[in-house]
Amino acid sequence: MVESHENLLAALAWQIELGADEAIGDNFLDRTETPRSAPEAKSVAPVLALAPSESEEDSGAIAAACTNLDALHKAIDAYGHPLKAGARQCVFADGNPAARVMIVGEAPGRNEDIEGKPFVGRGGQLLDRMLAAIGLSRHDEDPEKAVYITNIVPWRPAQNRTPSATESSAFIPFVRRHIDLIDPILIVAMGNTPTKALLDTTTGIMRMRGIWAEVTTPAATRPCLPMLHPAYLLRQPMDKHKAWSDLQALQAKIEECR
Ligand code: URA
Repeated sequence: MVESHENLLAALAWQIELGADEAIGDNFLDRTETPRSAPEAKSVAPVLALAPSESEEDSGAIAAACTNLDALHKAIDAYGHPLKAGARQCVFADGNPAARVMIVGEAPGRNEDIEGKPFVGRGGQLLDRMLAAIGLSRHDEDPEKAVYITNIVPWRPAQNRTPSATESSAFIPFVRRHIDLIDPILIVAMGNTPTKALLDTTTGIMRMRGIWAEVTTPAATRPCLPMLHPAYLLRQPMDKHKAWSDLQALQAKIEECR
């Protein structure tokens, strides 16, 4: 049966009302497609996932050509990565672009996907409290007290799964360009994914956290502190003392760089 446009919209509205309002897999099935006969169906994959339109090398060339944040935002938004198909919107950044401290997280979750800003869910609220404890805020106009926040991956992976190493590496040229455009004094790699992607290591966050490392971009090499992700701290509050010690290390380094 060929459904009318109005019926399809009504069916969609009904599903959203029931709470079925987000992607639950990485691939997309066109359930409106008329079923085919068995032999024909076998030869046609019922998947509408977006094919990557650019290679990793391409993301490097595209990123390098962006001379300001607006151009970078537009370039990332236009980048045809498969994750884009399962997300509501591109989550680019939040905070003060003049900040001396830049925080790089993993990927948007459900709340970030809805609001279009990084770290706005429960983990984000904890992050804001952690920053406030050492006098930092994403909303402060004073660059000395402000932070700027982005993620390695700008599109929400379905069901908040951790992005794969391949997905992270597709976006890393954009992140390095983002860092160069912000030009912070210090970088915080918030969690396992950004630590591995920015520091190009396979060593996990539990061994890397609290130890200053360096992030190299085309324009500079800057100090980077890997820290435990707030979502992890919500699950493991017993480890909050480690985060506190890392925050104090960050505060001390900020003082040292003044
Ligand atoms: N976790 C992240 O790493 N980034 C976000 O934006 C939200 C949750």
